[in-house]
Amino acid sequence: MQQLIINADQGGATISKHIYGHFAEHLGRCIYEGIWVGEDSPIPNTRGIRNDVVAALRKVAIPVLRWPGGCFADEYHWQDGIGPRGQRPSMVNTHWGGVTENNHFGTHEFMDLCEQIGAAPYICGNVGSGTVQEMQQWVEYLTLDGQSPMADRRRANGRDLPWALPFFGVGNENWGCGGQMRPEYYADEYRRYQTYVRNFGGNRVFKIACGPNSDNYHWTDVLMREAARHMHGLSLHYYTRLGGPRGTPSSATEFGEAEWFAILRNTLRMEELVTKHSTIMDRHDAERRVALVVDEWGTWYDVEPGTNPRFLYQQNTLRDALVAGLNLNIFNAHAERVRMANLAQTVNVLQALVLTDGPRIATTPTYHVYDMYQVHQDATLLPCAIQTDMYRHDEQEIPQVSVSASRNAAGRLHLTLCNVDPRREAALRCELRGLAPTTVAGTVLTAATMQAYNTFDRPDAVRPTGFDGAKIANGGLTITLPPMSVTALAVES
Ligand code: AHR
Repeated sequence: MQQLIINADQGGATISKHIYGHFAEHLGRCIYEGIWVGEDSPIPNTRGIRNDVVAALRKVAIPVLRWPGGCFADEYHWQDGIGPRGQRPSMVNTHWGGVTENNHFGTHEFMDLCEQIGAAPYICGNVGSGTVQEMQQWVEYLTLDGQSPMADRRRANGRDLPWALPFFGVGNENWGCGGQMRPEYYADEYRRYQTYVRNFGGNRVFKIACGPNSDNYHWTDVLMREAARHMHGLSLHYYTRLGGPRGTPSSATEFGEAEWFAILRNTLRMEELVTKHSTIMDRHDAERRVALVVDEWGTWYDVEPGTNPRFLYQQNTLRDALVAGLNLNIFNAHAERVRMANLAQTVNVLQALVLTDGPRIATTPTYHVYDMYQVHQDATLLPCAIQTDMYRHDEQEIPQVSVSASRNAAGRLHLTLCNVDPRREAALRCELRGLAPTTVAGTVLTAATMQAYNTFDRPDAVRPTGFDGAKIANGGLTITLPPMSVTALAVES
């Protein structure tokens, strides 16, 4: 029996609901087709935004949505995306396939999308190819109530009241597609640009600086040293890839246990990255005022055969569900510093929640994990200790079980558990310190094969089912997790 201790009588940090955030870029079929179909589409829509996708996203309570990129953000000029759609200029989406972007989905449409799904908007501004004035005017256009050239323009375009703009990113990946900058140079640019990201009226902008790629600890150190006092958040990007020599095939659906293991091992690297970046941040910001915002993460495989290689369309299997569950458990555990995370990317791109095919829609195994984990949003993190077996493959090993525990406002305990071993159950004895359980109930996400996924013809091939593997015993619980599964439990006391 493996051992789990939950300190239910202790309270840790609040798990910010924004850890359960998402990211939608003008890339491939994420915005166009996936979200925006236009008012004249036969696909049911509200002001051009697909109703089926909105309904699916509402159900998992997406708390925050990042837009318009990604690399697209540093080529985007927001004034091209306002006003009558027929008069908006086109541009070439140079980074993502050289396709024509007609700018029909712009600021008003994005804010409408956020209102429809109930998410807070997180807009990423253009530092790489945009001006300070352009960024300043975007914030003014969105949030200024009184009379000003930008507020008047907003009104002329049909929106009287200002919007609330809680989150704003000052550039994206400015070490790469956002301008190939050195951290010293970007730190100065950040300081300059953010000066003009103003708080108008009652709006308070949480300013997020471009942070490191993966293990670029130098970037974090320089940004925190030079600019921490001007920011509320610092981003981190880390994608889970297969690795190996360049050109190694990395199919989303056709893989064996070696690739199953490698992806799960590689995704667990998030723990090390978050820990080390947090340690550097602690040196400059002991009070943990600045949040670590993991605003791009998820799996990145070869695109589905026959699709545009720059559209990053990939399927999503039970393996991705485990990736989601492991990372969300990691973010919860670091809730004191990690206060937002945004999975890439909501619809039809990378580790998407939703896939579309014309009028058809399928939710992915990853979607179901977000549904199961939403109980942690804004709950109190409970410290837990686990003694788990190891899952071994080819002389390498990773922990078999990962867990997260929280208590919600009503006092209910929630546990989320991942068993990464594709063959072995995990039997756990769980001690609940400070809590006498009266009932336990749960759901589990698993499948007959590790490559299982949902299609438009079989959209429910992988979906959560009732879980009866948890029992109350000796004042605690015994839990038997099936192989390759994600489980969520609710415990009443
Ligand atoms: O999510 C796809 C791309 O990955 C984003 O545009 C960029 O920021 C990152 O490199």
